[in-house]
Amino acid sequence: MRIDSERLRLNFDRVTDISATKTGCTRFSYSKEDMKVRSILIEEMKSFGMEIKHDFAGNIRALYNPDHLQSKSVLIGSHIDTVMYGGKYDGLTGVLSSIEVVRQIHNNGIKLKHPVEIVIFAEEEGSNFGVTMIGSKFITGKIDESYLKKLHADNGMSAYDIISECGFLPFDADQPRIDSEHEMCMIELHVEQGGVLDSQKKRIGIVQAIAGMVTLQVTVEGTSNHAGTTPMSMRRDPVAASAMMIDKISGVPEKLKMDAAVTTVGKINVEPNGSNVIASKVVFNVDIRDVIEENIKEISDFIKELCKETATAKNVNVSIIKLGESNVVHMADRIVNTIEESAKQMNLPYIMMNSGAVHDNAMLNGIIETGMIFVPSIKGISHSFYEETEFEDIIEGAELLLETVIRLAK
Ligand code: GLV
Ligand code: MN
Ligand code: MN
Repeated sequence: MRIDSERLRLNFDRVTDISATKTGCTRFSYSKEDMKVRSILIEEMKSFGMEIKHDFAGNIRALYNPDHLQSKSVLIGSHIDTVMYGGKYDGLTGVLSSIEVVRQIHNNGIKLKHPVEIVIFAEEEGSNFGVTMIGSKFITGKIDESYLKKLHADNGMSAYDIISECGFLPFDADQPRIDSEHEMCMIELHVEQGGVLDSQKKRIGIVQAIAGMVTLQVTVEGTSNHAGTTPMSMRRDPVAASAMMIDKISGVPEKLKMDAAVTTVGKINVEPNGSNVIASKVVFNVDIRDVIEENIKEISDFIKELCKETATAKNVNVSIIKLGESNVVHMADRIVNTIEESAKQMNLPYIMMNSGAVHDNAMLNGIIETGMIFVPSIKGISHSFYEETEFEDIIEGAELLLETVIRLAK
């Protein structure tokens, strides 16, 4: 069955036009851009009879159940938030394709034995609070009120307060969570965000495992002073110390001979951030990932140690906390097999692969069966203005999602 490619293209344009900047897409969860996109998509989903619900965190759940079935739902969807200056396709591909999937099921009057639900997860990227997958962690009961009260945006407001101001649903209301009693499985379509499919000229990746991650927050404190009058030997400079730490952190996977592991420092705050001022404080986040669980722990411990050693050598103070984490997860065989059978039937060239990016889907793993479909990212670029995917590949991915959903729900 085909999906409506013109409609899909139109929706990509409508949504990406609503971004905070033209230098790529900046659409953080809970921003005014996010709110506008939500209302457009909700209207669209309602137009073919979907029932819309929210939870406190701002996850949108849209149920397609015209026959009022009592059976477990098949979930599809992804996220609509972006990183700063992000691309058009990360997250949005899965959300807009899911809407087209349900539209086709509806327009073709396909009788299902299971409801289909689109989930649009909030704050997947962690752009507000430095922790990824807040929505899917919330919907699966992995984080609570006190966690959200402790988590802060750069402006000092807590996640709890920022989300409360959006007024989705009060915290203590009856929150619809995802559980194995009501939901059967989740299949997420996403752009690969790496270069494997593009370099192998394959159109579809069927995901077997998603890398785990840990985010550390490192705070380095020194003594703020005058940049002109303070001799080099009398400084306690947290910027110089942090620079040394960050350089060493980037070499850790190689040093520990962990081929697939990656470490990234992409967020740094300097206080007070003046060019003629020796800073008082630097706070930076370290993103650590691998598909081998034990490696993540080993790298984390190694980084904590090297930061302490560097701090002693540079006469500054350091403290390190774990901001967030997610485990390595393996997709359910039944879902992987169903996607594979569908791809074979559609004559789509596919490969089996792992995901280095994390996805909301990983949070549902262990609660319900999960699976993921990847389409190629040109040159493997993502979280960037230069993120690109051939539109034909998105259509193939959406049609594979449709076929898979029908097999699972019929
Ligand atoms: C989410 O996009 C991540 O992998 O950081
Ligand atoms: Mn994503
Ligand atoms: Mn992303």
